[in-house]
Amino acid sequence: MFKVVKKVQLAPETFSLDILAPRVAKSALPGQFVILIADKYAERVPLTISDYNLEEGTVQVVIQAIGPSTQKLAKVEEGEEIESFVGPLGRPSDFTSEDPASLKEKKVLFVGGGLGAAPVYPQAKWFHAHGYSCDVIIGGKSKDYIILEDKMREVADQVYPCTDDGSYGFHGMVTDCLKDLVQKGNHYDHVVAIGPMIMMKFVCLLTKELNIPTTVSLNPIMVDGTGMCGACRCTVGGKTRFACVHGPEFDGHQVDFDEAMKRQRQYADVEKGKGCALGKEASRD
Ligand SMILES: Cc1cc2nc3c(=O)[nH]c(=O)nc-3n(C[C@H](O)[C@H](O)[C@H](O)COP(=O)(O)OP(=O)(O)OC[C@H]3O[C@@H](n4cnc5c(N)ncnc54)[C@H](O)[C@@H]3O)c2cc1C
Ligand code: FES
Repeated sequence: MFKVVKKVQLAPETFSLDILAPRVAKSALPGQFVILIADKYAERVPLTISDYNLEEGTVQVVIQAIGPSTQKLAKVEEGEEIESFVGPLGRPSDFTSEDPASLKEKKVLFVGGGLGAAPVYPQAKWFHAHGYSCDVIIGGKSKDYIILEDKMREVADQVYPCTDDGSYGFHGMVTDCLKDLVQKGNHYDHVVAIGPMIMMKFVCLLTKELNIPTTVSLNPIMVDGTGMCGACRCTVGGKTRFACVHGPEFDGHQVDFDEAMKRQRQYADVEKGKGCALGKEASRD
């Protein structure tokens, strides 16, 4: 069992949980994820690591309660325990093993759309800890949905919040903000975009035009998270890749987003409870 030592509400239906898991905290790196199971009736839920603390032995995840399993996890309170917490899974971000001299020369822009700000944070924190510079765009549909801005300002050179409705920061989507920054003369050698598939697709279309190499973090349906079931397969550069073991980060200009989005929606009806035993089990309290 794994104890939740801290819970904070970040946005509507969005919570961060700091979970006591010293062995995971010890080996976690930016880009990796964990699989949680709330209780013995619950499904496996893959969640990106949004922070980790070696001294305290905690790993932080940010959960958006959108369906039965994430709603169940969002109801877990400080001091309570969850059934299972497995990780770190997936490959760490490529930059963690890049030549420090070449990384020092680069200006990287992180783009976190909605919940995507959560996986961006440990990456920006890693850059700061290693003396590299980066800027961050955090997007949300309105001010209430901009998360982790204060933490991001502690580790990034510049932070650009932007909202679809203009209620805070730049008025527009993350792609509009990115285009605006480049038009104003900012130079970026690499973009890392994390968020909904549709957002990553449009960031990649833009950065292809702008000729900026772009990394994305895919979040397809996952089951085992260890390369055994094939549920998370996606096409990258014309080849089949399993996001859980070959990713979750890939060259965004090589990803077949239309196929990935179609696959992500393939069980949507079943998940809504239309006659699936697993769906019923997962919604049990
Ligand atoms: C590598 C990775 C990292 C992720 N990081 C986060 C995160 O940091 N925070 C967060 O809130 N969510 C994250 N997700 C998505 C999260 O796993 C799903 O929202 C969750 O599994 C939905 O389950 P549900 O029962 O609450 O909703 P459901 O109603 O069952 O599903 C809602 C939608 O979530 C997706 N989904 C459902 N089951 C899975 C599954 N087993 N694997 C992946 N997607 C699924 C589908 O697109 C589905 O349409 C991540 C997914 C992956 C693969
Ligand atoms: S989740 Fe099973 S192979 Fe990736």
